Amino acid sequence: MVQRSFRVVLLPGDGIGPEVVAQAVRVLEAVSAASLDFELKLESHDFGGCAIDAHGEPLPPSTLQACKDADAILMGSIGGPKWGVDAKLRPEVGLLALRKALGLYANIRPANLASDSLLDYSPLRPEIAKGVDIICVRELIGGAYFGTRKEQGVAPDVDTAWDTMIYSVEEVQRITRVAVQIALGANPPLEIHSVDKANVLASSRLWRKVVTETLTKEYPEIKFQHQLVDSAAMFITSNPRKLNGIILTENLFGDILSDQTSVIPGSLGLLPSASLAGAPSAPSADFKPTLGIYEPIHGSAPDIAGQGIANPIGTILSAAMLLRYSLGLEKPAKAIEDAVRKVLDTPESGGFGLRTKDLGGNVGTAELGDRVVEALKTVL
Ligand code: NAD
Ligand code: IPM
Ligand code: MN
Repeated sequence: MVQRSFRVVLLPGDGIGPEVVAQAVRVLEAVSAASLDFELKLESHDFGGCAIDAHGEPLPPSTLQACKDADAILMGSIGGPKWGVDAKLRPEVGLLALRKALGLYANIRPANLASDSLLDYSPLRPEIAKGVDIICVRELIGGAYFGTRKEQGVAPDVDTAWDTMIYSVEEVQRITRVAVQIALGANPPLEIHSVDKANVLASSRLWRKVVTETLTKEYPEIKFQHQLVDSAAMFITSNPRKLNGIILTENLFGDILSDQTSVIPGSLGLLPSASLAGAPSAPSADFKPTLGIYEPIHGSAPDIAGQGIANPIGTILSAAMLLRYSLGLEKPAKAIEDAVRKVLDTPESGGFGLRTKDLGGNVGTAELGDRVVEALKTVL
């Protein structure tokens, strides 16, 4: 059998990034070693605050080139107080530039780990958190993040500043089609909740019109509804099951709502994300493998960095998404997800599965990685 070789770029980044990426790497190495038909070539590059320190910029040209040449990219997280919000050179600027340069317009953030064993750690009451199954599909390279902005005033004081939230028909169409593709991956297809602020914003009115037209013309079998962002935020805490299915929304609303949704399953440390470039050409549940950045939904967690206590599950599950969406390797992706579930759900002596500190346990980052690698051997 021909062995396919895939090039995976690692961007461990700052804070807890390198700690959690190290565990995902062990998991990727384990699935690669167990497979006869593919191998993964992993290479690490500086990105974010550590790249500012080493190269004077968050996204050095060599890192960008490696990402362009890669089959997929696994990232930890970037940023931290050392490179503050007022600094000219911020790690976050590198992340936005990388997303834009690679055309990663589709950000998929599932908040559907749906492990009832974690319900007690949800900030919501268990009867409200139970059965929540939401996937956020966030537009990632448009809107206020990339519109014209200006800080104006007499130096050094800025007294007026603005950002522009801007969307074109084509940008809304292509992210709507990604949401459809994910909706069609379930049987029956998931319902789409398109979130906007059409009662105030012009860009939202265009968003609503294009989503409606795209869905009714191209995919009449998909159920959808429109939801204003303020009431969507209210439902996420009062009755999140109402939004089960897909939340489809623009960049800034998606940034906020995906963090809010992501804590429902128990901890920010649990959830993965994918940022994808490819446009689906036809209504189909099958993704053509496409370049993507995969990263946990959390940030660099400076408050716990270096202590070996960060939860690596979000990054390990991001590695599973990487195998699925960029390399087309569904079987090992599913095996990783099953191994994680097994580790979380198999009762230890205390009656619970293995838990890091954010979930009330006392297991360290590396030990959790050990156990996922062990569990993988039984499911591969
Ligand atoms: P954060 O997600 O880093 O941390 C929020 C809280 O969650 C902290 O208390 C942290 O300890 C906890 N937490 C996060 N991940 C955890 C994990 N895996 N295990 C256990 N606990 C975890 O958010 P923040 O503090 O607002 O941001 C810190 C820095 O990260 C900022 O510079 C921000 O810009 C950056 N950031 C980067 C990304 C990214 O790289 N994509 C995403 C979000 C924030
Ligand atoms: C995220 C982060 C980024 C964003 C920051 C770090 C630029 O919050 O990935 O959600 O706002 O998109
Ligand atoms: Mn965010």
